[in-house]
This record gives sequence, structure tokens and C-alpha cells, in this order.
Amino acid sequence: NTRKHSIMSFHEAAPLARISVTVPISIVVPTYRECENIPHIFNRVRALRDSQNIEIELIFMDDKSNDGSVEAVAAIGEDWVRIVERNGERGLSPAVIDGFQLAQHPVLICMDCDLSHPPEAIPQMVLALASGQEFVLGSRYVKGGSTDDDWGFFRWLNSRIATLLAAPLTSARDPMSGFFALRKESFDHARDLSPVGYKIALELIVKCDVDNVAEVPIHFQDRMHGESKLTLKEQLNYLKHIRRLYIHRFANAMYFLQFMIVGASGVVVNLLTLSLLLWLGASDSVGLVGGIAVSVVSNFLLNRRFTFSYARDRNPWKQFVGFVSASGLGMAVNYSVALYLSKYALPDGQGSIYLAALAGIGSGMIFNFLGNRFVVFRK
Ligand code: GDD
Repeated sequence: NTRKHSIMSFHEAAPLARISVTVPISIVVPTYRECENIPHIFNRVRALRDSQNIEIELIFMDDKSNDGSVEAVAAIGEDWVRIVERNGERGLSPAVIDGFQLAQHPVLICMDCDLSHPPEAIPQMVLALASGQEFVLGSRYVKGGSTDDDWGFFRWLNSRIATLLAAPLTSARDPMSGFFALRKESFDHARDLSPVGYKIALELIVKCDVDNVAEVPIHFQDRMHGESKLTLKEQLNYLKHIRRLYIHRFANAMYFLQFMIVGASGVVVNLLTLSLLLWLGASDSVGLVGGIAVSVVSNFLLNRRFTFSYARDRNPWKQFVGFVSASGLGMAVNYSVALYLSKYALPDGQGSIYLAALAGIGSGMIFNFLGNRFVVFRK
């Protein structure tokens, strides 16, 4: 991973008083049932705006909370503060994406409504952008960053595992953070945004093809009012999300890995079918043929459903014929390579035939994968 990563410390960067933010910023706050927190976050953002003389628009992106959030924003009565009521599917990430699309200023900030994220860190984040960073995270896991002590062990573990899974995608220490800044220009260049779940910063780092991420340390404070909406369902969504991001970044390697996993599952299906048929009284040859047939079908269905899911809307019968043909040709490649190596290339002696067989299996597998990826299930 050649992507650069730098850590910018709050105090090392510049004392707060000396930072002057001249660029207008749009702060997008996703909200779901946060009416109690709206006046508090508004007060903190207003204090920042007044003390630093920053041009700010504050947009609450609400998913039909129906809890008085709309009224709470109306009561603020400032023209730089508004709430957008979304229709359609509820979700943190889509709400942020919609908010960024509506935002009018060149710098975009996303933060939670519950004051877990200190708005006072925003000038440092903007400064990091101004110094050439493409994406800036408010980070709990760099020097100077922290979380409240009553973060339970499981929440901590959860966050750490999620971060570890993201490591192949970014070297940032806290890509799970919901507090971040980027330029509107970078956001407008994002390709294939498909946000599922909570991890919108990670989605943008990958889809905006960000080369350098800076991290500004923050203290992550537990929410005072309301409750977290981070359910088990959202955590499972994260696994779906991370798979999509891996495919986006490492497309062919991911297809190959999934193809291999399906292949391995085929071995299990084959042996189970064989055992079942023998148990039912079938002959050995019927058992062997049955095992092969069922595993070829299960491999086909799994590859069509998962590995090459992008081609699911095409004719399955044609794909099945292609899949079986690629397997047949793969076996022929396997046999030819093994035969050639054992006869002409490898020295005589014990072990050579096994080496030749392994090389044959490898070549057959690669041929089979390439045939499926680029012919049968081509994009
Ligand atoms: N519009 C909308 N729709 N907003 C939502 C939704 C939704 O479906 N779900 C949550 N939000 C809003 C919340 O109202 C809050 O302002 C923000 O998104 C974060 O949601 P929380 O439910 O408070 O998240 P959390 O405190 O558990 O998780 C925090 O930590 C994660 C890392 O551990 C957040 O900072 C996450 O952004 C962060 O990823």
C-alpha cells in the first residue's frame, strides 16, 4: 500500500488561536432521533463560527425522526442552519452522501449530532486540508486522541476488529470515525458510491481514491442524550460493506479468492454427496459421478451468486454451459501441463510426478478462473 498517511497533532500543527479559517465550510450532521442534542451542537458550532469568524452552513440530514427535530431547528431561526427531511430508505451513510450533494461550500465536514465529536477540532482539520491533505479524520487512535473511560470492552474490541479489517484499504488508524473533512471537489470525483451501513469515511477514502489521509487527534465523548443506533444489523452490514470495498480496490484478486473459496466448498459438497449416495446403496461409480455432478452445479450457483454477482442478470443456462466447458478445458490444461513437466522438464525421480501434478492443478485452476472471469462471466 503506497498511499501516504500523516498524523497531524492538534497542538503541534498550530495553536488554535492562531488558525484562521478563511474558506467557507459545510457541516453535515446525520440525525435520527436527536432532537435533544440539536440545540447543544448548534451552540457549539455557533461559538466556533463567532469566535473564528468562519462562514459555515450547518445541515441536519434527518430520517423522519418525528421527534421534534424539525421544530428544534426551526426554533434556532438562523438562515445558515437547516434541516432536510429525507424520504426513502433510512441510513447514516446515504444521509451523509445526500447532505454532501446539497452542500454549497468547498469544504465538507461530517460529524455526529450527539457531541461525541468536538466541533472545536474543525479548524485543525481545515488547516490539514489547506496544507495539501486530501482527507482528514478526527481520530481517537493517534497520539493525543482518546475515548471516554466508560467505553465498554466490547465496543472497544468491535471498533478495533473493524479497523483491522479496513487495514488493507487504508493505513489510517481510525477510519471508523464518523468525524471527517474533505474538499467538495474530491467528493464530486467519487466513483460508484454504494454506502451500506455506518462507515461513510472509509467508503469515501476508497471511492474518492484518496492518496493521503491526515488524522487530527480528538477526544471522543460518550453521548449525553439519546442512544446509539449502532445495532447488530449495522455491524453485519459492515462486513458486506468491507467486501464491496475490497472488490472495488482489489477486483481481480478478490474474484480469484472467492473463486478458490467456492472451489474448496465444492470439494466438501463432492465428498458429502458421494457419502450420501454410497449410504443409499449406490455403486462406487454412481457415487463418484453424483459427487462430481452435484459439486459442479453448486460451484456454478455459488460463483454466479457471489463471486461474479455482477453478471447475475444474464442467461444462466448459457453461463452454465460456459462454466462446464471452462472446467473441462481447465482439466485438459491440468493434464497437459502435468504430463509435459513429468516427461520433459522435471528430472526423473521420486516426487517429480507430484510436483508435476501440483503444477498441473495450479495451471488448470488459473485457466479455469480466467475463462470464467473474462469469458463466461465477463463484465
Ligand atoms: N439520518 C440518519 N439516518 N442519521 C443516523 C442514522 C440513520 O439511519 N443512524 C444514525 N444516525 C446519526 C445519529 O443520529 C448520530 O448523529 C450519528 O448518525 C451517529 O450515530 P450513533 O448511533 O450515535 O453512532 P455511535 O455513537 O454508535 O457510533 C459512533 O462511532 C462510530 C465509530 O465507533 C459514530 O461516530 C459513528 O459515526 C462512528 O462510525
